[in-house]
Amino acid sequence: MTNVQAVAIHNLEHRIGESEVLTISELAINAGETVCIRGGNGSGKTTLLRALMGLVRCDSGDVMVLDNDMRTIGTSSLERLRADSIGFVFQHYRLVPYLSAFDNILLPCYFSRKRQYEAERQSGTAAGDAIRLIRKLSLTDPSRLSKNAAQYSAGQQQRFAIARALIGKPEMVLADEPASAMDGKGKKAVYQLLQDECRATGATLICTTHDENGIEGFDRYVSMDTLNLARERENRWLL
Ligand SMILES: Nc1ncnc2c1ncn2[C@@H]1O[C@H](COP(=O)(O)OP(=O)(O)OP(=O)(O)O)[C@@H](O)[C@H]1O
Ligand SMILES: [Mg+2]
Repeated sequence: MTNVQAVAIHNLEHRIGESEVLTISELAINAGETVCIRGGNGSGKTTLLRALMGLVRCDSGDVMVLDNDMRTIGTSSLERLRADSIGFVFQHYRLVPYLSAFDNILLPCYFSRKRQYEAERQSGTAAGDAIRLIRKLSLTDPSRLSKNAAQYSAGQQQRFAIARALIGKPEMVLADEPASAMDGKGKKAVYQLLQDECRATGATLICTTHDENGIEGFDRYVSMDTLNLARERENRWLL
């Protein structure tokens, strides 16, 4: 049986201004695979995830995500793809600051009937599923999720962003340094939850990190130093 690909990148190039930011000749990720992409500051991790989510349209090459051509996909199809099928944890969380923590977690269910339906199927109600997820991230008193998101600590906000990405079983979860604000115990819980949820639903999981080690359990580890040829060239130039 051949594996179904969730991501297929071929000869991708992207520049920002004068800088060559991303040059990736090949990257294939199977549906249901869990992948950890490692790289230092400026190695292109965020840009790559943004390209996979269609927030960045690359200059040339092929970027296929869940059978969609991300360089040519139309705006409404892209919005539908993101709402129904992609959970995203932004590097700086990007919660809606004037909504409660609880409403932030539920946001994908407001935008996507599919995710609302899946959350209800999992836990009876979408709110019930939000509580299930957040409990797994050591926030034991969900009744206290009523303050506006901006009034929580960075580590707490990051937990809400992770629950928001996972709710309603998206087909793909992209998480940009999802444990950057966590202490050791929190970090373990975050990666465990991301992997457990994605494996249970068959979702593809792609996480980035600048941690060189200590992150366990992924099917595959990829280094930006070898993946991103632009990075390699820059390194040579810096030397
Ligand atoms: N708005 C921008 N204008 C110019 N260059 C940019 C811009 N955004 C990113 N870059 C360049 O793109 C490269 C990759 O940036 P990116 O944010 O993807 O790296 P990263 O691996 O996510 O870094 P970090 O670990 O700091 O989050 C960097 O070298 C950066 O200088
Ligand atoms: Mg980044």
